[in-house]
Amino acid sequence: MAQSGASVLVNDIDVEEAKKVVCEIQDAGGKAKISAHDISSRKGCSNLIDQCAAEFGSVDILVNNAGILRDKSLLKMTDEEFDSVWNIHVKGTFWCSQYAALKMKESGGGGSIINTTSGAHFGNFGQTNYAAAKGAIASMTYTWAIELSKYGIRVNAIGPTGSTRMSATFASSKNMDNDNLSFIDPTSNGPLITYLSSHLANKISGQIFGCGGQRLALMVQPHYGKTLQKDESWSIQDIDGVMEGFIDEFKNLGMLSLPYPFHEGVFPPSLKED
Ligand SMILES: NC(=O)c1ccc[n+]([C@@H]2O[C@H](COP(=O)([O-])OP(=O)(O)OC[C@H]3O[C@@H](n4cnc5c(N)ncnc54)[C@H](O)[C@@H]3O)[C@@H](O)[C@H]2O)c1
Repeated sequence: MAQSGASVLVNDIDVEEAKKVVCEIQDAGGKAKISAHDISSRKGCSNLIDQCAAEFGSVDILVNNAGILRDKSLLKMTDEEFDSVWNIHVKGTFWCSQYAALKMKESGGGGSIINTTSGAHFGNFGQTNYAAAKGAIASMTYTWAIELSKYGIRVNAIGPTGSTRMSATFASSKNMDNDNLSFIDPTSNGPLITYLSSHLANKISGQIFGCGGQRLALMVQPHYGKTLQKDESWSIQDIDGVMEGFIDEFKNLGMLSLPYPFHEGVFPPSLKED
């Protein structure tokens, strides 16, 4: 984004990481400033957006990118694990976007908000908190695109891929050797983010793209599929009578897009043993 002329406020609670990015931008002749606000609080987000306006005179683009993982299966997940992921991803995105959109509305110059979701929101083992948060971010993206278009503000999201500190955590939680995972350059996500924030994307809002590595994919919105109508409401027997037709329509399940795995039924262990 800096290469394309944006002045960038690089925010990270880990200020050393933010410093590295700012130095890299400045060394390449770009404009960047450091900030270290904690986006898991309303105050942190408000200070962050105020700092951006104070440093550069306006807030035209917001990229909501900060995130953490606290993977556990449902039966083991604690409130702390759920809340910390929810606060950083969902509330941080909500608060930063609210403050940035207010500034964009006041300026009258429109703007672009880019959220970060993940294919995990399709469902992924061990990611109750993260999948829920990324699903909420996708839903907020659709909603804000509808609400904010009247101010000339476009809202899109990406589902990135890249070898980062986060993906290293993912590898270790799955007992995989990170060195053996194929490297995906995280900077390969940059051009799409820059494109979405530019006038080239004037016609694009409320959309989510998968990116990273050699991939560019449209992540389609959930929508109603096969729909049946009756003159009266549906009884249990009516529903059972047409369910085979719906089962034929079931798509692959989860982020790994496995073929629908429950055609043989889902039964308690005691029944399976019989
Ligand atoms: N790496 C992937 O393959 C992948 C896949 C799908 C989605 N994502 C998403 O991409 C985004 C970036 O992740 P990444 O892979 O670069 O991980 P990362 O851990 O390298 O970067 C996330 C950054 O967010 C910062 N952060 C965490 N909590 C914060 C807070 N409260 N306030 C301010 N900063 C905070 C961290 O210090 C860290 O530098 C995340 O939203 C992640 O969920 C990544």
